[in-house]
Amino acid sequence: MTEQAKEQELIPVLTTNNNLQDYEEAYKNFKWEDVEKEFSWSKTGKVNIAYEAVDRHVDEGRGDKIALLFNDATRDESYTFAQMKALSNKFGNVLRSLGISKGDRVFIFMPRSPELYSSYVGAVKIGAIVGPLFEAFMEGAVKDRLQDSEAVAIVTTPQLKSRIPVAELPALKHVIVVGAEGELGERELSYEKLMESASDELQIQWVDREDGMQLHYTSGSTGKPKGVLHVHNAMIQHLQTGKWVLDLKPDDIYWCTADPGWVTGTVYGMWSPWLNGVTSVVRGGRFLPENWYKTIEKYKVTVWYSAPTSFRMLMAAGDELMKQFDLSSLRHILSVGEPLNAEVVRWGMKVYGKRIHDNWWMTETGGQLISNYPCMPMKPGSMGKPFPGIYATIVDNQGNELPPYQMGNLAIRAPWPSIMRQIWNNPAKYEEYFRLQPWYISGDSAYKDEDGYFWFQGRVDDVINTAGERVGPFEVESKLVEHPAVAEAGVIGKPDPVRGEIIKAFISLREGYQPSDELIKEIQEFVKKGLAAHAAPREIEFRDKLPKTRSGKIMRRVLKSWELGLPTGDLSTLED
Ligand code: WTA
Repeated sequence: MTEQAKEQELIPVLTTNNNLQDYEEAYKNFKWEDVEKEFSWSKTGKVNIAYEAVDRHVDEGRGDKIALLFNDATRDESYTFAQMKALSNKFGNVLRSLGISKGDRVFIFMPRSPELYSSYVGAVKIGAIVGPLFEAFMEGAVKDRLQDSEAVAIVTTPQLKSRIPVAELPALKHVIVVGAEGELGERELSYEKLMESASDELQIQWVDREDGMQLHYTSGSTGKPKGVLHVHNAMIQHLQTGKWVLDLKPDDIYWCTADPGWVTGTVYGMWSPWLNGVTSVVRGGRFLPENWYKTIEKYKVTVWYSAPTSFRMLMAAGDELMKQFDLSSLRHILSVGEPLNAEVVRWGMKVYGKRIHDNWWMTETGGQLISNYPCMPMKPGSMGKPFPGIYATIVDNQGNELPPYQMGNLAIRAPWPSIMRQIWNNPAKYEEYFRLQPWYISGDSAYKDEDGYFWFQGRVDDVINTAGERVGPFEVESKLVEHPAVAEAGVIGKPDPVRGEIIKAFISLREGYQPSDELIKEIQEFVKKGLAAHAAPREIEFRDKLPKTRSGKIMRRVLKSWELGLPTGDLSTLED
């Protein structure tokens, strides 16, 4: 199908009882200041996102409402807002008793569990900045993040704590172990013991709206992962996008499938639903199509937020499987993280009888910026239109706005409430996003059509998006060259029908090493153990030499053309 034909395809509005009734009208009249009135701090002057997301519901008589529905292979539990308040209060007191206070970095490195959420909220209540880590991270990835942020404490589990190299982390004073058994090591403390003696009454640390709240590490194309700092003020965006994009209503049972190691899992798995006083479902364990459908059926999920890779895997699992479950509770389905193919949207219409609403944002933007809304006709394959209060556009490399259908840099007029405030320890990196004033330059390329819908085209840089996870090629290359057999490595994203992209590494070997299947497996394991399973190259190709610039930089662009069988373009800077 040609681009032009694609745009003719329009899926009409299917639901009428939407929080946002008229997008165009809202886009014209909406002001962020109006949202401020909905927070208690607009009257009391006392700010803390954790208060607004949890305690406030208790103070206003909604304490018995379920905040969290959790289940995994061994647990099946629910927590009310009152229980979440008490648990997070206790944990806030635990941290205080350890001398931790406002501005300190506290990391959370554990599988999804109720304790993850109550610790997160507790740390934010005392003004700490929380850094969540994927449980899949191995020692190298954990070390980089804890070192860069100079974290003073980390909450973890017996299974994961061996990946925290305390000897190399002088700033890290406390390793709080949930479910510890037997002897505890250096700097280790038992979570249960600490919680046992902690009071469930806590003096919340009131903060400034501009004070740090969470720190999400994400990948760029060069250098180590970047610590993206978000502040309490982001709650304005989290609340309002929850209303208009997620279309949350008080009685919804909402399920965001993302892990809190990823910004979607914190902002839209915790803050946004809880600020709206809505029950959030969290499922532990790996992706399995039947378990996912079971989760929807069991909890009667009404709003479901997931990612294209998951939808593609559900699509691959077959429509028959789906028919074994009662999914009639579903009212609204959303997707984020990578391009949502028009094909998947059409499949969603067929099997769920629902539109899958794509939306676009980034770790750095702190909240959804471009979206399809239930009240708006949808063009499958498009990311939708800017959120009210957001001006999105396409600019050239000088910052000039481009007309419809011209591809260029996807840019947003800065600032907005949830925009990142810092790249930790790296002001130069931060400035790069704002090099073309007044724009925030996303690093994505896109175009917009004459109706104002945005269409994603790709990354401008080399960042890989595999199954919705951002992987920096540099980080993988650096790990690869630590392997004794690897002389040089270049890493690219190779298009893949299910995962969007997979990681492919081109490797030249050191003297004395021969290519073999065993060596490929060994190198893959090496990256898995050193970084994370999702960062390991699924494909490895050996080459005698890799294309490099005269300054010695590996030209990933050339590797990509090799892979896709495309012309290699300008090679004037190539070494030889
Ligand atoms: C990509 C995710 C196409 C994009 C919340 C962006 C998307 C990066 C979409 C951010 C979408 C996100 N369509 N691509 N709807 N949403 N992306 O920081 O390249 O993990 O820059 O945050 O994912 O990834 P991040």
